[in-house]
Amino acid sequence: MRVTVYSTRPYDRQFLSAAAAGGPHDLVFLEHRLDASSVATAAGSQAVCAFVNDQLDAGVLQALHALGVRLVVLRSAGFNHVDLQAAAQLGLMVGRVPEYSPHAVAEHTAALVLTLNRKIHRAHARVREGNFALEGLLGFDLFGRTVGIIGTGKIGMCFWRIMAGFGCRVLAHDPRPSPEAQAGGLQYVGLAELLGASDIVSLHCPLTPQTHHLIDAAALAQMKPGAMLINTSRGAVVDTPAVIVSLKSGALGSLGLDVYEEEADLFFRDLSGQAIRDDVFARLLTFPNVIVTGHQAFFTEDALRAIAETTLANIDAFETQGRPLHAVSVERLV
Ligand code: NAI
Repeated sequence: MRVTVYSTRPYDRQFLSAAAAGGPHDLVFLEHRLDASSVATAAGSQAVCAFVNDQLDAGVLQALHALGVRLVVLRSAGFNHVDLQAAAQLGLMVGRVPEYSPHAVAEHTAALVLTLNRKIHRAHARVREGNFALEGLLGFDLFGRTVGIIGTGKIGMCFWRIMAGFGCRVLAHDPRPSPEAQAGGLQYVGLAELLGASDIVSLHCPLTPQTHHLIDAAALAQMKPGAMLINTSRGAVVDTPAVIVSLKSGALGSLGLDVYEEEADLFFRDLSGQAIRDDVFARLLTFPNVIVTGHQAFFTEDALRAIAETTLANIDAFETQGRPLHAVSVERLV
């Protein structure tokens, strides 16, 4: 099967080519994003392979279908960028990688917590300048602190185990509590209680209509003064302008982001020679108690290998059985 691969970076090409080697599929690697302006480049392919900032709205899906595309394979677990209703109406199958390495994301989340708490980003810059003063680098013991996890799926569960290992008290909020976690002693509470009790709040829920701007001004007002907020899920779970207000007032103690609501125009590219046009994002970068990574939480060798292998398995299964191995259906939205 001919597959057009969008938003390709050298590492995607490396791992996907290795997974496809010797197989029947012909992968066409394109660097640009899939959106309404670029959809014609899928001509001649029966499948497209997309990443998190590719645009798969109804218009793009209709255009893909008209070109003869019958399968969309996502190199991601999240599928909030696909209009599943439109895909179902067109008879377009959508596959994803439900689990490639929850450890990769959970470990990066822990890295953000440790960096913010012990100010490693500031310490690194200081030491390189010959400044060994400790003022401004004061942290706190994680041992005994309360961590609130919103969303205890695969990643949230890994993060729970990591933070429990530090001796933290862990609270969780999820409309579908994990029986395994409950049996293991994880305490589920309502969102307001979690926000009010946690020294660190970490987001691990998907982006859905229910979680859009879950952390808004009202939620921030319920958080402990000086608390840390970490978002490695999806940018739009957080209302960024509201977070900036809270950081300016000093109510929010620190912020670690791996995702950003408007990241599609920024992340996965080298923009170091250009001015950043997004003023909200630029403001975030001015705070000493904010660190941002560019959607790299998934970025480990293990995860890239697993993403490539599952993507090829989705394509194989579609070709042989008419359905990707890990199909995403409209029912998942409810
Ligand atoms: P998962 O599907 O295993 O778990 C998600 C959990 O969130 C489920 O237990 C679900 O019940 C819960 N949830 C749904 N609505 C909720 C709500 N309103 N409040 C609280 N919890 C809610 O997903 P997984 O694999 O753990 O991934 C979580 C998210 O992490 C993904 O949806 C994706 O957006 C993000 N992600 C980010 C990556 C990165 O590189 N930064 C990489 C992979 C995933």
